[in-house]
Amino acid sequence: MVAGMRLAPFILRIYLKCACMLLGKVSVMLKVGVLISGRGSNLKSLMAACATPGFPAEITCVISNKASAKGLDYARNANIPVHVVPHKDFADRQAFDAAIDAVLEKHGVQLVCLAGFMRLLTPWFAERWRDRLVNIHPSLLPSFPGTDVHQKVLDYGAKVTGCTVHFVRSEMDHGPIILQAAVPVLDGDTEEVLAERVLKAEHKAYPAALRLIAENRVNVLNERVFVTDSTESGEALFNPKA
Ligand code: GRF
Repeated sequence: MVAGMRLAPFILRIYLKCACMLLGKVSVMLKVGVLISGRGSNLKSLMAACATPGFPAEITCVISNKASAKGLDYARNANIPVHVVPHKDFADRQAFDAAIDAVLEKHGVQLVCLAGFMRLLTPWFAERWRDRLVNIHPSLLPSFPGTDVHQKVLDYGAKVTGCTVHFVRSEMDHGPIILQAAVPVLDGDTEEVLAERVLKAEHKAYPAALRLIAENRVNVLNERVFVTDSTESGEALFNPKA
């Protein structure tokens, strides 16, 4: 009885400490909404990152303009709220974007990640979410914007390609660059092989960029991104090796 009474304040203190840690963690988690149109492999990589203990972001909703988007299953299986907003149901782009915006607001989203979202967003949306809207593109922007990127890289004979995570502006595949990952283009590459190599890099780059943003280390100044406490070594990537 006496021992139990002595233990009670100790247990209470531990309990309070855990509750405070938990509350502290919840309050600093960045709420992320992910927009997809298809396969969803980048969504999967973001979800995996967010599921890592201590990762400073959580995905509060996934939205697709296509009900058939395969990536929606990843979210459903993880009990992340899923919304299908078919663009064909809306009279114009502005109305569609307003519907997307309403879903994001409903889920308290603070940062929007485009992950293979195949609709051009209106300047209204881009401005409303300025510096809170990011995209991943499978080339080293500003080289090779648009579609059929890997074939264009091969046709041009580029020796290095990669992927870019950037803030979105109203012009397609344009905006302050947050992070890029470079991969070599090899002599025997086909479009598919190169796409796979770049995709592997994307799956590391997007979570890494999300972490930087969620840790409040990304600052936009005059349309250029500066990352605080970056540990980049400055090593060059050579292809072919020199
Ligand atoms: C990725 O290559 C991404 O860079 C581009 O669209 C593709 C989406 O792939 N924006 P997934 O749906 O994430 O697998």
